[in-house]
Amino acid sequence: MNKIQSSSPTVGIVGVGSVGMAAAYAMLLRRTASTLILVDADHNRARGEAMDLAQGQALVERVDVRAGAMSDLGLADVVVIAAGANQKRGQTRLDLLQKNANVITGLMAELDQHAPDAVVIIATNPVDVLTQLALGKSSRPKHRVFGSGTTLDTARMRMLLGNAHGVSPRSVHAYVLGEHGDSQVPLWSTATVGGTKLGLLGSGPVFDDAFRERIASETRNAAYPIIEAKGYTNLAIGVVLEALVSVVLRDQRSVHPVSVSLDGELGIQGVAMSIPCILGRDGVLGRLVPDVDPTERGALAASAEILRGKLAGLG
Ligand SMILES: NC(=O)c1ccc[n+]([C@@H]2O[C@H](COP(=O)([O-])OP(=O)(O)OC[C@H]3O[C@@H](n4cnc5c(N)ncnc54)[C@H](O)[C@@H]3O)[C@@H](O)[C@H]2O)c1
Repeated sequence: MNKIQSSSPTVGIVGVGSVGMAAAYAMLLRRTASTLILVDADHNRARGEAMDLAQGQALVERVDVRAGAMSDLGLADVVVIAAGANQKRGQTRLDLLQKNANVITGLMAELDQHAPDAVVIIATNPVDVLTQLALGKSSRPKHRVFGSGTTLDTARMRMLLGNAHGVSPRSVHAYVLGEHGDSQVPLWSTATVGGTKLGLLGSGPVFDDAFRERIASETRNAAYPIIEAKGYTNLAIGVVLEALVSVVLRDQRSVHPVSVSLDGELGIQGVAMSIPCILGRDGVLGRLVPDVDPTERGALAASAEILRGKLAGLG
């Protein structure tokens, strides 16, 4: 058993750029952890972020916020990895993949050395391929490593469906599974509002192909207008990462679509992608296999093959 039952949980965030700091800020505001350790290849940046964040605690709650090195993560119950590059102009996705694969390989070796009991949550993109890689590189139990996967895409879809039906996204139960990327699969067959299937609500938009395609496309492409406008996405993924960390620290056993290496679920083997998982103190406590329809099953198999191809591209 790891030490998460402690009443003073410690979270390490590796990579404190826009995503890592959005997560850290959410954790400060939501009082998620007693100690936040910020680690970055640019240590000065981590120092600056730690000082800046720490100075808000008088109005929230006492939190020990500090910059550290990988070797300081021995006390961490959960480590979030948001280190690595975004795609730059002139750079192919494969370049990015190879670059971030090297980052993840190095970080997992250091985490195995310094924080072997921590639950590791990966946010760095391409998150599914890097989660599979991390699982292969790490000697920690497999249930203690997962990727944020389609938790963000699912939040986006629930927001869009909530807006369309005039209800809170929290009352929308719908999942996006598969790749956190272009081949993601929205599960229409199981989507409900308050237990009522979409299309049977008696009010709201017509639940036809055009509506489904519009919501699927806006969900899949949600990052692009944000990147166009501000250069990167960070705030919603920050909220997502805080929520995932909180579920683990508080052993909430709630279900989130996170990236895990599939072991025969949906007929897929040896590829990390998102399915609904029960998360708690020890990481991934269980996996759920939704009752998908044949079209969705085919799309999930295709998503797995795309990811398998990207993994093969790593050599
Ligand atoms: N999973 C998701 O849903 C999601 C959403 C948005 C962004 N992302 C991904 O998150 C990652 C970070 O994005 P960002 O916008 O914060 O980038 P960023 O450039 O703002 O920050 C990245 C940070 O990582 C640090 N870093 C690089 N290599 C490191 C290493 N080996 N050890 C420690 N730190 C290291 C850099 O110094 C930098 O501070 C990207 O891969 C991005 O694609 C994922």
